[in-house]
Amino acid sequence: MALKANLITEPNLLVVDDAAGIVNLEEIFGCPTAVELEIGSGKGAFLLQMAKAFPERQFIGIEWANAYAEYAADRFRRHGHANVRIVNAEALWWIRIHLADASIHALHVYFPDPWPKSRHHKRRLIQKPFLQQAMRILRPDAPLYIVTDHAEYFEHMRDALTDFGQFKLEPFTSPLHLVGGNFLVGTNFEKKYAAEKRPFYSLIARKPA
Ligand SMILES: C[S@@+](CC[C@H](N)C(=O)[O-])C[C@H]1O[C@@H](n2cnc3c(N)ncnc32)[C@H](O)[C@@H]1O
Repeated sequence: MALKANLITEPNLLVVDDAAGIVNLEEIFGCPTAVELEIGSGKGAFLLQMAKAFPERQFIGIEWANAYAEYAADRFRRHGHANVRIVNAEALWWIRIHLADASIHALHVYFPDPWPKSRHHKRRLIQKPFLQQAMRILRPDAPLYIVTDHAEYFEHMRDALTDFGQFKLEPFTSPLHLVGGNFLVGTNFEKKYAAEKRPFYSLIARKPA
């Protein structure tokens, strides 16, 4: 179900043939300087702020839900942001087949689905296969930013990061800190949960230099 009728997803929706292999980021953006990736970008609220604040950087959002991906692509077209592409795919699969080693300057994961039931924990994004891919695609010294409202998932993430053992854990500083505002990352889920006064849990996991 589309969120809005008559969405125009060109030129911000990035469609890559499964067989195409590793994408050429230079070809996609024309001379990229610093490509950042958000997983589960939803309606694009975080990337919209980043694209405005940092026009010299490039951004890719991967979003599994077709309606959100199309809405976000249309939104970036309406705002004229040529430095953002939205991919409608399962993130781990797309990263594995399409992103080169050490190609990403920052990775953002905000309010990932918590899958609270024990029998669904295996569906959680933040675990070893994802951390392996994150370590592979991030450039040396590049950050993985994480924010969640879910205390138990946060503990699970910290355990997974500790077991993985290759990231340096740091306190969270908002990637939007230069822009100001009252939000950590300003996503739709953050705004909704802030209104409910939920606590947030956050960290930066940095790839070694
Ligand atoms: C709880 S919502 C958070 C959306 C947004 N980050 C926010 O904070 O408002 C999680 C989003 O991640 C997307 N998602 C979940 N698993 C995904 C995956 N494996 N690949 C790509 N998107 C995924 C969902 O479709 C959903 O839009």
